[in-house]
Amino acid sequence: MSNQMIKSYVEQSDKYLEAAGYTEHGLRHAEFTAQMSGEIITCLGSPLRDAELAAIAGFLHDIGNFMGRESHGVAGALLVQPILLSLGMSPIEVACVMGAIANHEEEKLTPADSISAAVVIADKADVHRSRVRSTKFIDFDVHDRVNHAATDSKLSVNPEEKTIILSLSIDTEISPVMEYFEIFLSRMVICQKAANVLGCKFQLIINNTRLV
Ligand SMILES: [Fe+2]
Ligand SMILES: [Fe+2]
Repeated sequence: MSNQMIKSYVEQSDKYLEAAGYTEHGLRHAEFTAQMSGEIITCLGSPLRDAELAAIAGFLHDIGNFMGRESHGVAGALLVQPILLSLGMSPIEVACVMGAIANHEEEKLTPADSISAAVVIADKADVHRSRVRSTKFIDFDVHDRVNHAATDSKLSVNPEEKTIILSLSIDTEISPVMEYFEIFLSRMVICQKAANVLGCKFQLIINNTRLV
């Protein structure tokens, strides 16, 4: 996306979250979420336009963070509305993208459709050590530690078996699997909820062992 206002919102949000001690939420996270959201929809055989809308919502989902972490989904949805309308998107598509952005966080999660559900799963699948900002292990909090411990992560969709699988490789020297599971349990629950909306089951595999 080349819209300058959108880029500014993404950058400002990442800056805000860095100051607040959160992991990386910049253009890389936006692009990852956009790509994975689109791929989930495509793999499940939905129309191309749905995949495009999921990718747009995925790219935009965190842009409201600079207005405060709480309710950043709703803030982001309201910010994008005039931009998407000015770019010529139809009102019904704008509403769909707004809904996906507003509902991507666990405390408010109600994915109303497949686009919204795909964004939730794509967002939560972005677990990797590259998101940790601090280079000093001593400064890590538990979220940094579990992200730093993730040496590899892969999201895959099996349309025949109707499963969405997040496979992680965790360095257990850095973070025991149980610590990881504890931190991400709520995320896994909402991924299951979102996968259900897509007519699928969600599976989490850590170091080749299936946990859910
Ligand atoms: Fe978010
Ligand atoms: Fe996110």
